Amino acid sequence: MAETEMGCREQRWSLKGMTALVTGGTRGIGFAIVEELAGFGARVYTCSRNEKELNERIKEWEIKGFNVRGSVCDLSSQDDRQKLIGSVTSAFEGKLNILVNNAATITLRKSLDYTLEDYSFMMNTNFKSPYHLCQLAHPLLKASGNGNIVFISSVAD
Ligand SMILES: NC(=O)c1ccc[n+]([C@@H]2O[C@H](COP(=O)([O-])OP(=O)(O)OC[C@H]3O[C@@H](n4cnc5c(N)ncnc54)[C@H](OP(=O)(O)O)[C@@H]3O)[C@@H](O)[C@H]2O)c1
Repeated sequence: MAETEMGCREQRWSLKGMTALVTGGTRGIGFAIVEELAGFGARVYTCSRNEKELNERIKEWEIKGFNVRGSVCDLSSQDDRQKLIGSVTSAFEGKLNILVNNAATITLRKSLDYTLEDYSFMMNTNFKSPYHLCQLAHPLLKASGNGNIVFISSVAD
């Protein structure tokens, strides 16, 4: 039954030949997006801050037959974002079809208790990083001839 369904899905459309960068793919919604895109045949690159967890996910995807690579990156750091796009450029021969800005963070405190550091970290990760990644990825998206950007947001953002 599942195989028949999978066959139908694959017959309807495919992402073979497409490349995607999904930020924060080791858990939650990002993990599901990586699996979906890779399941449709895309080559996927992902990142997170936890190297152990990232390597475990990559091994699991390899066993499932998915083409997923990744590297450690703290998206709140501009240097790390630049390095990430450098790695994606090498992995995908300078062409990117899909950028999914998924990773985000939340610090739960009462508004009056937020420190400036809390504010900076959240804004760097949730706002500055997706904006900067779009700028950095622009040449790759353009080079693919078919570039798409997806923002995952929240009522809390
Ligand atoms: N879950 C919900 O109910 C919900 C509802 C509405 C919207 N959303 C949105 O959906 C998106 C994903 O949420 P989620 O609940 O799936 O999150 P999650 O389970 O907490 O996973 C977040 C992912 O992003 C990575 N990440 C976080 N900060 C990072 C950083 N500075 N640099 C690199 N990677 C980082 C995490 O890995 P590391 O921590 O190891 O770095 C992890 O892989 C977010 O944009 C969120 O606002 C979620």
